[in-house]
Amino acid sequence: MKIAIVGATGLVGSVMLKLIEERNFPLSELLLVASERSVGKKLRFKGKEHKIISIPQAIEQKPDIALFSAGGNTSLKWAPKFAEIGTTVIDNSSAWRMDLSKKLVVPEINANQLTKEDKIIANPNCSTIQMVMALAPLHKKYKIKRIVVSTYQSVSGTGVKAVEQLENEILGKKGEMAYPYPIHKNAIPHCDIFEENGYTKEEMKLVRETQKILDDRTIAVTATAVRIPTAGGHSEAINVEFENDFDLNTVRKLLSDTEGITVQDNLDVNIYPMPMYANGKDDVFVGRIRRDGSQPNSLNLWVVSDNLRKGAATNTIQIAEYLVKNRLV
Ligand code: A2P
Repeated sequence: MKIAIVGATGLVGSVMLKLIEERNFPLSELLLVASERSVGKKLRFKGKEHKIISIPQAIEQKPDIALFSAGGNTSLKWAPKFAEIGTTVIDNSSAWRMDLSKKLVVPEINANQLTKEDKIIANPNCSTIQMVMALAPLHKKYKIKRIVVSTYQSVSGTGVKAVEQLENEILGKKGEMAYPYPIHKNAIPHCDIFEENGYTKEEMKLVRETQKILDDRTIAVTATAVRIPTAGGHSEAINVEFENDFDLNTVRKLLSDTEGITVQDNLDVNIYPMPMYANGKDDVFVGRIRRDGSQPNSLNLWVVSDNLRKGAATNTIQIAEYLVKNRLV
């Protein structure tokens, strides 16, 4: 397997590099790709230095799989060029997610839809991945009617510049701003750009991507996405109403038995998910599992995950692993 990482110098790209090593991904050659600014610089992988190359140079080398995390415009322009030469692209940007001809994949939920013909595969948004991971097993059993979600999102989801903004502000240093306001000691209800309906694009991703991944356009979703000064992961307060009633013990067991989910829910000893626990881990953590007594068949959950791992790099690598295992590349 010849693998290219497009955006290898970025936050998600560097976690992909780490994961390929950690998970012993079957690899014959690794191509590290970034913008012209970085071409010729070196990155370390498995103790050896690798030179960064440009996208056209990577295309010349015809990789089997290209893992993209270099923004939507790069992806729109270059993913089809890789696809044309037979490379399978797994793309982290939002460029292809809602394209009807492209699959939007969380391996634990819908990787079985993938075929050899899928040359551009979309990786969902980080906030969506952790939400559907927790909700998919419950949807199967109880059928979701409506979701109300509020997010508390890490600055790492915005990229290097945002992490630096927070670090500078903590140190009282001046620097470039990734957000329109200080993020230190603040909460900004503005993730991604605003759409005409008054919601942000991030909030609408939670609506549209959830319906696509769970393959059910009747699920009603409403979201508020908030950026907070944390770096280890995204948190979500999820209120979900089902068609059918549930009992809490079965909900807990269903979640505990789902691969990729860890239930952290022991109120006697203050155990609940937090970004400081999720940071650096691949699982989605679920806790504060409780019935919403204000209306029938409704449940509250608190869901936390490392947005650079399961929310981005881990999910991408898992899709690549699935393709390799099932001989789809
Ligand atoms: P570079 O470091 O050369 O700018 P992040 O989202 O964490 O800021 O990372 C973005 C990643 O996408 C970086 O690796 C960046 O490379 C890469 N990138 C940005 N624009 C392009 C481009 N036009 N072609 C290739 N890679 C790009």
